Amino acid sequence: MVKKLFIETLGCAMNVRDSEHMIAELSEKEAYELTTNSDEADLIIINTCSVREKPVHKLFSELGVFNKGKKEGAKIGVAGCTASHLGKDIIKRAPYVNFVLGARNVSKIATIIHQDKAVETEIDYDESQFAFKDFRTSPYKSYINISIGCDKQCSFCIVPHTRGDEISIPADLIVAEVRKSVERGAVEVFLLGQNVNNYGRRFSNSDEKVNFTELLRRVSEVDGLKRIRFTSPHPLHMDDEFLEEFAKNPKICKTMHMPLQSGSTTLLKAMKRGYTKEWFLNRAQKLRELVPDVSISTDIIVGFPGESEEDYQDTLDVMRQVEFEQVFSFKYSPRPMTEAENFTNVVAPEVASARLSVVQDLHNATLDEIKHRNQGKLVEVYFEELRADGFVAGRSDNNLLVKVKGSEELLGTIQKVRITKLSRLSFEGELIE
Ligand code: SAH
Ligand code: F3S
Repeated sequence: MVKKLFIETLGCAMNVRDSEHMIAELSEKEAYELTTNSDEADLIIINTCSVREKPVHKLFSELGVFNKGKKEGAKIGVAGCTASHLGKDIIKRAPYVNFVLGARNVSKIATIIHQDKAVETEIDYDESQFAFKDFRTSPYKSYINISIGCDKQCSFCIVPHTRGDEISIPADLIVAEVRKSVERGAVEVFLLGQNVNNYGRRFSNSDEKVNFTELLRRVSEVDGLKRIRFTSPHPLHMDDEFLEEFAKNPKICKTMHMPLQSGSTTLLKAMKRGYTKEWFLNRAQKLRELVPDVSISTDIIVGFPGESEEDYQDTLDVMRQVEFEQVFSFKYSPRPMTEAENFTNVVAPEVASARLSVVQDLHNATLDEIKHRNQGKLVEVYFEELRADGFVAGRSDNNLLVKVKGSEELLGTIQKVRITKLSRLSFEGELIE
């Protein structure tokens, strides 16, 4: 009898890939099939995020709903970063949960489902060479891990405590994964790590040391591969060699994530980010010079302890100077095990909320201003999504979301498109024959 698996994935791209790994293991070793209906599932997994507090609170109410609706005998498991962080406390608070599997332990999924009340959250566990079975959410692009864990100690961030120390996956394994994906029809790969341009500092055995720039070169040599994306790089490690390779390698998509966090050098120091406002601006400027069409996205935290009006003005100043194409902005949320949890110079919640609104308004105003630069532009779009309204959508090399009238034969192809209609977040265009 086929067993059914329902899996809900929260959080970042790393979690998406971890879920793919778990699905692959469970379908290969335990003959599970995916379902989108939790009520008919034999196994329900929530793959959690713990970067901010809110999703953690939501977890328990959601678990309650799943428990009520589940079919008789179905199991429930909690995986991911909240599993690493709360461990056995999850079973204490929700005794019907059958197992807890940390973000660094997803390779153990096919075993842990048979061990009732098991908790596996070891953060030293080395999964960097684990040969996972294959499962891809999208036939058009493949997520490929290049490292696990994170060696930074940003004072606000729980990730190093849930995903452990950083270990790079050997370059030849990565290149082999890329080849396999291309053979199966993907022309785009998405290289993943918490800090990708720190790649190559530590491998779990004595593999040849390769840095991120060299890894990009090697991946780009794979025949048939057309596009490389990656996330997340760290502004500190954006040296000239890396930016120049990014600029000149035609397979690397011209979109860069530059997580700013704060524009104030004082706060960046308290956050332990390792760079200054000037360094960040210098790197962004160099990037725009080398790649005039580049699209830059960022992460911003407002209301970090000690953030003065002046610090926050520095953040707005960087936003005005760089004109980010995409901004993910958050109110600071104190996290357990982090250094900043003990900082006492707290920013009042209403001040943080007001600052967040201003950041978001400024970003929207910037988008309204810069979108006109795309009028009439010729872009290459990789089509991935068939819409119900007769449109097919995809991303340009520099990450614009573009839709054209068309049907499914466009899916999985890269086409030249002229942009005809502008909006803040997506564009409409016409195919150029
Ligand atoms: N290296 C990872 C970081 C993961 S956390 C990456 O770049 O994807 C993703 C983002 O969440 C961070 O860049 C930061 O902006 C935000 N974040 C992390 N911890 C936070 C906290 N305690 N409060 C608010 N936002 C936080
Ligand atoms: Fe977190 Fe900083 Fe690493 S944001 S994931 S500790 S680079």
